Amino acid sequence: MIKKCLFPVAGYGTRFLPATKSMPKEMLPVVNKPLVQYGVEEAIDADLYEVAFVTGRGKRAIADHFDISYELEHQIAGTDKEMYLDSIRNVLAKGSFSFTRQHEMKGLGHAILSGETLIGNEPFGVILSDDLCVNHNGDGVLSQMVKLYKQFRCSIVAIMEVPNDQVSKYGIIAGECMKDDLYTVENMVEKPDPKEAPSNLAIIGRYILTPDIFEVLRNTPPGKNGEIQLTDALLQQAKDGCVMAYKFQGLRFDCGSIDGFVEATNYFYKNFYESE
Ligand code: G1P
Repeated sequence: MIKKCLFPVAGYGTRFLPATKSMPKEMLPVVNKPLVQYGVEEAIDADLYEVAFVTGRGKRAIADHFDISYELEHQIAGTDKEMYLDSIRNVLAKGSFSFTRQHEMKGLGHAILSGETLIGNEPFGVILSDDLCVNHNGDGVLSQMVKLYKQFRCSIVAIMEVPNDQVSKYGIIAGECMKDDLYTVENMVEKPDPKEAPSNLAIIGRYILTPDIFEVLRNTPPGKNGEIQLTDALLQQAKDGCVMAYKFQGLRFDCGSIDGFVEATNYFYKNFYESE
């Protein structure tokens, strides 16, 4: 069964400069929790306890975050501030964390391929922590996808409908609708021009991948923007066998943009934050 979840976290976070000059964008807090911790909690909720990060230069704060801070534990133990550590203590107790580096920025496909040493020959989840997902009254998005994997045993991408003028920001799929929320992928294009988009069904940053993706990625030439695109490799998998696309239950905030980040902050403050 699926045990591992890969987090590509090597990106620069240019849109958040100067905040991201010396701090990883994944450590930006939505209210009081770093973006990447929301993603890791979603993975752990889906019973994916082995968390693998593909990092880059300047990302050490992420490794420190998923480790014990002895000074902090010592200072705070037995005080009324201890509750502030509850969520991260829970993550550390359940998860195990491993790291590798992507030495060159050659696209999402290249980042996933860099994670092969941590994943090996087994199916795995992928979370892009810029996409913050929440499903208030039910299973998290990755849990929903793991359930589907158990049924279909093939790679699965999460999708949502986006307005036509937004399609050039995403990987876009086209396929045959099996039932309301599930498609068999027939075509996939990375960031198409709106005039050429095969639909308005956009991939968001949640994937289940079968391990043959690594071999496909090794043979995938650079695509859009000269980068090795996961979308291109998934299209190959779809042609060779099967890839499903799933319209998930819940909300997704694009925390890679300032607008989405502020929306997420307001949403989490209103719905989850308990003021003292
Ligand atoms: C990546 C993928 C794209 C996907 C998007 C979801 O793009 O390449 O297919 O739709 O994530 O957030 P990025 O946003 O990293 O440019």
